[in-house]
Amino acid sequence: MMKAVLFLIFTLCCCQSFAQNIVCYYDGRAGTYATPVLPEALQSANCTHYTYIGIGLTSKGDLRELNPNFDLKTGLPSFLQLRSPTSKLLVLLGGIYESSATFSTAVGASLDSLINNIALFLTRHNLDGVDVDWRYPGSRGGKPNDKVITGTSSEHPGRLGLSALRQNAVNRESKANFQKFLIRLRARLNMMNKLLAISVSPNPAPSGVAYDATTLSLYADMINVYAFNFTEGTETVTTNLAPMYSNSANPISVNSSISSWLSTKVRKNKLNLVVATYARSYTLANAASKSGLGAPTRGQGLAGTNSKQPGYLSQDEFCAIKSGYGNTSDATTQTTFFARDSSWVSSETADSLVQKYSYVIDSGLAGVGIYTLDWDDTSDGCGAGQFPAVQLARDYLLSSY
Ligand SMILES: *[C@@H]1O[C@H](CO)[C@@H](O)[C@H](O)[C@H]1NC(C)=O
Ligand SMILES: *[C@@H]1O[C@H](CO)[C@@H](O)[C@H](O)[C@H]1NC(C)=O
Ligand SMILES: *[C@@H]1O[C@H](CO)[C@@H](O)[C@H](O)[C@H]1NC(C)=O
Ligand SMILES: *[C@@H]1O[C@H](CO)[C@@H](O)[C@H](O)[C@H]1NC(C)=O
Repeated sequence: MMKAVLFLIFTLCCCQSFAQNIVCYYDGRAGTYATPVLPEALQSANCTHYTYIGIGLTSKGDLRELNPNFDLKTGLPSFLQLRSPTSKLLVLLGGIYESSATFSTAVGASLDSLINNIALFLTRHNLDGVDVDWRYPGSRGGKPNDKVITGTSSEHPGRLGLSALRQNAVNRESKANFQKFLIRLRARLNMMNKLLAISVSPNPAPSGVAYDATTLSLYADMINVYAFNFTEGTETVTTNLAPMYSNSANPISVNSSISSWLSTKVRKNKLNLVVATYARSYTLANAASKSGLGAPTRGQGLAGTNSKQPGYLSQDEFCAIKSGYGNTSDATTQTTFFARDSSWVSSETADSLVQKYSYVIDSGLAGVGIYTLDWDDTSDGCGAGQFPAVQLARDYLLSSY
């Protein structure tokens, strides 16, 4: 009897922490396309969290809309209609369209005002929380003292110079800006009962930045690891958008990224693995002689007919042309790429998504993020249903216990 009760308690406790988050991003930029993808179109996605991308900040700590005349007027108000008893609504602060330097200045010199403005924004728009997406503390133009430098950083084992050691001491004393920001923001959000999500880079230590795993674990409700775009658009050869496993040319993969994060001892039941729905396109330099992985390119590939960003295709856009493409799977990286003449495309497939979702479950992570809904198949053009990335996540995560 006792054993049965204990077993029951164990089962209940154990399964509460199973992968259960499906965090879906919507980028307000999609509201400005020739044929806009509006939040109303996302109604059937059924995510546990929806995150609106479209709010940046100024160096004085004020919030600003990134898509003028859309985000505040139409985007966010329609986004609020996605609220349901089973979903939470967040706003993302920053993201790929905001500079690290702006974060640096705002957090360094106007922290009180920034935190007030965030709190006010959440209340005014009746949101459940904020996702801080500072890319990245201490890099991309941010100040060095935004980051945490620890003396034992595996990046510089035993070769810290005197000035670096002094700098370390200064940083530790004054607490890195990013840490200070999180701690203060958390205190404020606690009073309002709002969620704090933090988006982080695939690598826990990008260009020498070390996030402080303890701070993240203690203060964030969710830690979203962007597990794609590992080469950050600087590559000159065809490259997988999000390889599951590393190969000799590309040492960073979903596996290496999540493994490095787990080795920081960050709380894994707060980690969400964020997958990309968009496809990455390149133009091959010489399609006749080299068209595989690592083939030379002569730049960004096809832009979508609607999203119009060279090198990027939404699934709606890719599905419309996919039948003319041949596909090849790569066993080492567990990816599939598509080619036609000099056009080369890397994209997730149902198989590669399922593999990542299974990895999330097997690793005991909190769940997945889907970046973004507007880049996914919103119209069932591929024939696997609307929002296949979400539906697969529901199938694998929510029914896994
Ligand atoms: C969304 O979730 C609700 C409640 O779980 C369910 O009844 C509905 O069928 C789901 N819709 C889709 C498109 O999966
Ligand atoms: C990929 O990384 C580069 C460099 O940081 C950035 O400019 C680009 O916007 C990123 N793309 C996405 C979709 O995250
Ligand atoms: C996944 O990452 C771990 C940790 O770095 C490594 O030991 C393992 O070999 C990787 N798996 C594959 C298949 O590459
Ligand atoms: C790859 O091509 C084959 C043959 O045309 C097709 O049956 C299959 O669906 C394609 N795979 C993907 C993931 O599109």
